[in-house]
Amino acid sequence: AAGLPTKRIGKRIICLEETDSTNNVTFRLAEEGTAEGTVVIADAQSRGKGRLGRSWASPKGVNLYCSVVLRPSMPPVAASQLTFLSVVAVARAIELSTSLKAWIKWPNDILINGRKIAGLLNEMSAETEKVNFVVLGIGININMRQEQFPTDLRHPASSLYIESGAELDRNRFIRTLLKELDDLYDVYLQRGYGPVREEWLSRSQLYGRKARIDCQDRTMTGIIRGIDDMGALLLDLDGREERILSGDVTLL
Ligand code: BTN
Repeated sequence: AAGLPTKRIGKRIICLEETDSTNNVTFRLAEEGTAEGTVVIADAQSRGKGRLGRSWASPKGVNLYCSVVLRPSMPPVAASQLTFLSVVAVARAIELSTSLKAWIKWPNDILINGRKIAGLLNEMSAETEKVNFVVLGIGININMRQEQFPTDLRHPASSLYIESGAELDRNRFIRTLLKELDDLYDVYLQRGYGPVREEWLSRSQLYGRKARIDCQDRTMTGIIRGIDDMGALLLDLDGREERILSGDVTLL
């Protein structure tokens, strides 16, 4: 497809009818040296990957499955900042394209009316001190119908169509998303993580809220103070600050 008039992201766009996972294709292209900003979009994925080894339902022709190559000069520990950046771009694109309110759930889910609409899976190639490239993998349920979800996902997962009652033009949505990603990445390169963190926090509705965090080995209740540079959630437990690297958040 023709590239977009952006600064970096989407200057080269590769559209595939079907692939195993756009992240896999994009990772290989990045290893072969494809330019920063290259985007791979597939109409269907036969082995869409989710976080924690889960699979990502990827039926044909209804949703968005795409991956983007970034080549930032940064140490690998800072790469989670790009996950926050892409989550903010997805939330913006949803709100620009529908009248829905998109809510960010830490670390990187997008919820509408409490149901998951989109997920991010970023993969990285790095040496100890520096990132070679990052592949941002973005999956957004756009026009998917209720009956197309695997039965165990029907309740927690949803699509923009189900929540808004209207079909969306996928091509237009993709252009909006890539433009927002491009804008945010430019701000990030010029001004650092601060503006991204601020917008992430305001869209997460987490700041200052009382929450319960279920971690693997324990459960904590406290006030959320923010996220740090590594993406950890900062929880105030009666004046003592706890950094939480992974867990499930429930607002109280
Ligand atoms: C999650 O578990 O929430 C993350 C889901 C990420 C899905 C997207 S779809 C495009 C890209 N290719 C993949 O195989 N996964 C990501």
